[in-house]
Amino acid sequence: MAGGQKLWGGRFSQPTDAFVEAFSASIAYDSRLWSQDIRGSQVHCRMLARQGIIAPEEAEAIVAGLEQVAGELSRGALPFRDDLEDIHMHVESRLRELIGPVAGKLHTARSRNDQVATDLRLYLREETDHIRAALNRLRGALLDLAEAHQTVVMPGFTHLQIGQPVTFAHHLLAYVAMLERDHGRCTDLRSRLNRLPLGSAALAGTPFPVDRRWVAEQLGFEGLCENSMDAVSDRDFAVELAAAAALIMMHLSRFAEELILWSSPVFAFVELPDAFCTGSSIMPQKKNPDVPELVRGKSGRVYGALFSLLTLMKGLPLAYNRDMQEDKEPIFDAVDTVRACLRAFIDLVPGIRVRRERLAATARQGYSTATDLADYLVGRGVPFREAHGIVGRIVALAVAEGVTLEELSLERLREVDGRIAADVAAVLTVEASVAARRAEGGTAFDTVAKALQAARQRLAEAPA
Ligand code: ARG
Repeated sequence: MAGGQKLWGGRFSQPTDAFVEAFSASIAYDSRLWSQDIRGSQVHCRMLARQGIIAPEEAEAIVAGLEQVAGELSRGALPFRDDLEDIHMHVESRLRELIGPVAGKLHTARSRNDQVATDLRLYLREETDHIRAALNRLRGALLDLAEAHQTVVMPGFTHLQIGQPVTFAHHLLAYVAMLERDHGRCTDLRSRLNRLPLGSAALAGTPFPVDRRWVAEQLGFEGLCENSMDAVSDRDFAVELAAAAALIMMHLSRFAEELILWSSPVFAFVELPDAFCTGSSIMPQKKNPDVPELVRGKSGRVYGALFSLLTLMKGLPLAYNRDMQEDKEPIFDAVDTVRACLRAFIDLVPGIRVRRERLAATARQGYSTATDLADYLVGRGVPFREAHGIVGRIVALAVAEGVTLEELSLERLREVDGRIAADVAAVLTVEASVAARRAEGGTAFDTVAKALQAARQRLAEAPA
């Protein structure tokens, strides 16, 4: 198509270079904004008529024509062409084919700059809500798993060395807490994202008597982008969503890592559902945790999206620059990826089989109640630092004799420190260790049961 025939082609005398057309086209990926584009255009058009900027019949023809274009797009019946650049041009040029030159009135008081910003905000608002809903479903799935395993004890680790016994439910509730904050972050950013750019036109605003507040209300925006230059030129809302997505992936990736470790026969803490694992083409015994591995792996591309967007925006002068077309692929990939990973875990978590005996047996390893013995001495008036040293010597003794703390006789213990008495037996078990940690936020059964209930309550009250 010669430059002169383009929707913007008036001042051009040469056709666009064919490679440049392909190089600059965004239709391959921004076509996914079609329904937001049409909705925004219909509301804009109705506003133009309400304000007497175009005639009511003209608006009717345009709105009906847009409806027809929407139908074609939803059926995949509108062919995409690089020479029409982007979704906005495809919609407008098809509208013109359908209803004639009156289609040209739609773009009154508007620019593609405020149009694309509006489309993207509408689209990402929906995606944010899908992500928030998925976060809540995963919170629910983890709460169910925790509730079903409230009395399962496992080793808690630091440095991946056995530290202290914890309950399995307590461990899962840590992830519930992370996901709850992720949900809160998405709720927060949604409100900043949910502002209307339309009415800002190219950058300076419009001389037409538009009613931006009416348009905002019709499109479900909470308010306006207050400054026309900011409205068309910032993409911080996409950066915020990418950052929230990156944090979600960071959390999912840690959980993925634990599932991978836990399902290894070396740990044998859990068994993952067969439907979420694959075999090896050479080693017949293998059952590989591919789904958690992929979730862990996909965190990389979401972090990448965040950095693409930050780097894309950092050097741009106000207002719109074509660079900003490059915002779409990373943010689309980030939301697709985070949604897919949430979905994978929502489906996988209910199928996790917990090997209670193995977890309990491992919790007894590694002198996991050594801290309890030190705390016991503190109860007898020994300063904690001194108690730490005494227990260190006792652990060394147990290591040398190849026994657990519980297996050391009272005499042996008293040889190290005479303040240890017969009642020490009650603090050296894993059960006692867990039961002792009753302070809010701790791992005692009752404390965890209350935390679980509170987390359920907050989930039930989470804003939709
Ligand atoms: N496809 C463009 C984008 O995504 C739409 C805005 C084009 N505006 C312009 N002045 N060329 O950024």
